[in-house]
Amino acid sequence: MKIVLGVSGGIAAYKAAELARLLQQAGYRVQAVMTRAAREFVAPMTLAALTGEKVITDLFPPETAAASPADAEAAIEHIAVAQAADALVVAPATAHVLAKFAHGFADDFLSTLYLATTAPVILAPAMNLNMWRHAATQANLETLRRRPGHVLVEPGAGYLACGMVGEGRLAELEAIVAALERALAQGQRDLAGRKVLITAGPTREAIDPVRYLSNRSSGKMGFALAEAAARRGAAVVLVAGPTAAEPPRASGIEVIPVTTAEEMAAAALAQFPHVDLAILAAAVADYRPVKPAGEKIKKTAAPLHLELEPTPDILAACGRAKRHQILVGFAAETGSPVAAGRAKLQAKAADMIVANDVTLPGAGFDADENEVFLITASGDRKLERAPKSKIAGQILDAAAALLAPSPSVRLVRA
Ligand SMILES: Cc1cc2nc3c(=O)[nH]c(=O)nc-3n(C[C@H](O)[C@H](O)[C@H](O)COP(=O)(O)O)c2cc1C
Repeated sequence: MKIVLGVSGGIAAYKAAELARLLQQAGYRVQAVMTRAAREFVAPMTLAALTGEKVITDLFPPETAAASPADAEAAIEHIAVAQAADALVVAPATAHVLAKFAHGFADDFLSTLYLATTAPVILAPAMNLNMWRHAATQANLETLRRRPGHVLVEPGAGYLACGMVGEGRLAELEAIVAALERALAQGQRDLAGRKVLITAGPTREAIDPVRYLSNRSSGKMGFALAEAAARRGAAVVLVAGPTAAEPPRASGIEVIPVTTAEEMAAAALAQFPHVDLAILAAAVADYRPVKPAGEKIKKTAAPLHLELEPTPDILAACGRAKRHQILVGFAAETGSPVAAGRAKLQAKAADMIVANDVTLPGAGFDADENEVFLITASGDRKLERAPKSKIAGQILDAAAALLAPSPSVRLVRA
């Protein structure tokens, strides 16, 4: 995702360099746009070197004797930058920038870009205490707070560069990044109108009335996928095996609790014909006791032999029933996840396999983080270790890209 980082002319402009670095660490491409006053505080070269992108400083190219087509192209750059931006973050936002944004003045690149973008806008003001408290600033802030798609990251209180103590200090940089991430998650509604089936957690296969075969799956990956899909506008059916963690009960998520592989298969296959996307993240037991004992098996000195039979293969069954659906399976492997994932992709007629090595410490089963490979017909891609919520978003990005345009989008295009 591409973030435009607007920097205006306050003392805190030096913190924009650190913010650019944090945004990059969070996986964003960053392009800086600086006001004339900002350049009095930080050199554009600093931000160019850190972001690896051209820093935009002017609306118009420098005056030349005869304007060239290249100059004309540069002059409409704000439109291209605005269209490519997934969010505009302005940090620090001066009292002057807030006033211009509130009233729609467009006399430099940043303020023109602001009017041209439809992306979420995150504003982190920083200024002297009296400037902050001024009725004009407060009125502008109120206007901006009420504007849809705008987030104000309120300044903190403390010692200010002007020597005063009070409100006006740029918010913590981590709080600005967190506000951006929330805004992006809310803004992304690319799954609106879609129905998504997600399976999560382990299954339990009875040995007798008190014992069962199961695995270490916590359900967290599937739950994170369900939450992320619902946030992006999907109607989610979550078929959840028994876990210690509670399945998410957010609006847009219907939870169907199941215990065994047989129950999970029945629930998933009943839903499958009605969904656009199925992500089978559950760790379904591959085998179950052929004949679970009706009564608790008594302990004896003799060895106990359990005869096991394969459980229904839910991914393969969905693959056979597939019509318009995009089918995503998971492969939990203990070595060479890519090779195993690719074999599974073909064998099960899936569109994507999310493969991971469950022996990696701190990732995968029963962990809050994951690192996985996304395997599709067109190749594989590694998602570096990250919280499961972030991995869920990346899996949905890849799955959404495989979905055919929704009927409403087709209608608009026609
Ligand atoms: C040393 C110095 C520090 C300043 N710090 C701030 C500040 O923290 N916040 C602010 O709103 N304005 C501050 N200003 C005033 C702005 O630089 C000035 O209003 C300028 O016109 C802002 O332009 P811009 O919003 O286009 O960047 C400062 C000015 C100077 C000279």
